[in-house]
Amino acid sequence: MIGVALYGCGTVGSAVAEALATRADGFELRHVVVRDPHRLRTAAVPRALLRTDWRAPLADPGVQVVIEVMGGAEPAGSLIRGALRTGRQVVTANKALIAAAGAELEALAWARGAFLGYEAAVAGAIPVLDALRGPLAANRIRRVAGILNGTTNYILTRMEEDLLDLPAALRQAQELGFAEADPGADLSGRDAAQKLVILARHAFGRWLPLERVRCEGIEAVTGGDIDDALRAGERIRLVAEASLGDDDEVVLEVAPRALPAVHPLAAVRNETNAVAVEGDLCGVVVLAGPGAGGKATASAVYGDLLRAAGSRGRPLAPLRTRHPSPLSTGTDMLPSPIVISS
Ligand SMILES: NC(=O)c1ccc[n+]([C@@H]2O[C@H](COP(=O)([O-])OP(=O)(O)OC[C@H]3O[C@@H](n4cnc5c(N)ncnc54)[C@H](OP(=O)(O)O)[C@@H]3O)[C@@H](O)[C@H]2O)c1
Repeated sequence: MIGVALYGCGTVGSAVAEALATRADGFELRHVVVRDPHRLRTAAVPRALLRTDWRAPLADPGVQVVIEVMGGAEPAGSLIRGALRTGRQVVTANKALIAAAGAELEALAWARGAFLGYEAAVAGAIPVLDALRGPLAANRIRRVAGILNGTTNYILTRMEEDLLDLPAALRQAQELGFAEADPGADLSGRDAAQKLVILARHAFGRWLPLERVRCEGIEAVTGGDIDDALRAGERIRLVAEASLGDDDEVVLEVAPRALPAVHPLAAVRNETNAVAVEGDLCGVVVLAGPGAGGKATASAVYGDLLRAAGSRGRPLAPLRTRHPSPLSTGTDMLPSPIVISS
């Protein structure tokens, strides 16, 4: 049996615990770290496993894999560093932490011969990081562009199809659980920007700081903008794009764009996510699916868990830097950002 410590038992953590309980893959859940041990939990988490001290599982030599689905910078950062330093395999869904400290954590994992998996941090169940690292690895990537935030895509879709204004569409998203009580990180594009930094790391082999993302959210998008776009045969989507600019520089941008209705990203509705990858060999490959939610995110977490177990302590090799495609056609996969009226 492979001993597992689960940090966090909320939306994602409880779905991971359920998956662990219903699949006989040889994992033993030994600790579940939460803030409030008295809260009602899923049946898959026996009370005896609940802890509030994040250090306790790291003192247990029976723990080989740590799953961090608590969120936030701390204590998530400290426990992941502690786990890697002691040679544990780590799986996390923490996009904010990985976008900020991914370079340092990957270097630590590499130095300690430990696995660090964070597929769940970008686009939920869509295996885009794995695709870039594996099946698409031969490509010189020119551009990756995606709808990486389900909340804003849900809002834009409802504004378009139900003629709602932004506050009404946001209320609907919150009622259905597609938006958090504080939707600031979603609406401002910050959540998508964090995911874009991680995506760019896999597409171009470099960690770039979050501040490099030119980031514009959807707060200023009006019903009038949506109508104008529809009349022009276009749809407005919040697009996160990483592309190679002049001098091999990676350009990062999150902004609302008016896409031709036939564009693959324009067809992505509601809370669905999608990522288009443009490479010199593969052309344009589009991956789409559920980008958030407990089960969809647990799918990616559990996939990394299986890889962590299979890696037997071998870390993933560092990604190489990729170069621009000499075959690049010069045609834009996406039109320029739209100008939103004030
Ligand atoms: N929700 C999604 O669809 C989704 C998708 C992709 C990635 N993610 C990422 O997954 C992570 C978790 O998200 P979530 O939606 O599952 O969050 P959540 O529902 O708020 O759950 C967070 C869990 O962590 C525990 N926790 C938080 N801070 C803690 C602390 N300081 N000490 C001990 N326990 C603590 C909470 O304990 P209590 O239960 O006692 O409060 C709770 O069980 C985040 O990094 C998020 O960005 C989420």
